[in-house]
Amino acid sequence: MTKKPNPHRAGITPPKLAKESIPNHVAIVMDGNGRWAKERGLPRTAGHEAGEAALFDVIEGAIEIGVKEISAYAFSTENWRRSPEEVKFLMGFNRDVIRRRRDEMNALGVKVRWVGRPKRLWASVINELEEAEDLTAKNKVLTLNMCVNYGGRAEIVDAASALALDVKRGKVKADAITEKLFAKYLDQPTMSDVDLFLRSSGEMRTSNFLPWQSVYAEMVFMDVLWPDVDRRVLWRAIEEYAKRDRRFGKA
Ligand code: FPP
Repeated sequence: MTKKPNPHRAGITPPKLAKESIPNHVAIVMDGNGRWAKERGLPRTAGHEAGEAALFDVIEGAIEIGVKEISAYAFSTENWRRSPEEVKFLMGFNRDVIRRRRDEMNALGVKVRWVGRPKRLWASVINELEEAEDLTAKNKVLTLNMCVNYGGRAEIVDAASALALDVKRGKVKADAITEKLFAKYLDQPTMSDVDLFLRSSGEMRTSNFLPWQSVYAEMVFMDVLWPDVDRRVLWRAIEEYAKRDRRFGKA
């Protein structure tokens, strides 16, 4: 049986909003772990560790308010440029978090999916992601896209390359390529368009996260470092989202 999310520790419940004001898909750049740790005289890795609770509280809050899909930017194709120690930590950390949280996500009815490039990614991380995908494949409450070794340009280039190969093999006609067909070649073809794009830490950029899927996303930048985030920050961002007038190019 699907478990209900634990209530927020202060007993706070989500704001009452009309169903159509709730974003279906929320993309999250979990930024500010390093600064959070530095402010406390701790190593950067302590900031990442503190970020785990933030992500899983946000997931529970997302279920409570009715969000159906979350994409979390856990490691980017550019994060390989960090120090070897931090890269090693982030790889091991991602692997351990996925293993540690798998059963809890399954109990909540969360479907976990990996989005990203296999190249360079540790085999042990891929194994954990695939185990979590298999275990949670039938769940329907919320889809959690774990974006590990993900890069927006890498995703588009890989899609273009696979599509070019299909054109060469005669499986696809070059003049029949549409946006819909192209999207089938992306890392996760069934991912829906992003409605709300959130970034913590006050930085205002998208950093190569889901460019194809976010062309009409509403951007909300939160002035709080990721380890200090909990579901209330998500709910505030959704209240802001609910006030936006989304026109999708129409007048
Ligand atoms: C940005 O903080 C965060 C990342 C590079 C991604 C890693 C995110 C986490 C570990 C959060 C929780 C994730 C999981 C999988 C539970 P930063 O290091 O860029 O911070 P800074 O901008 O303050 O230096």
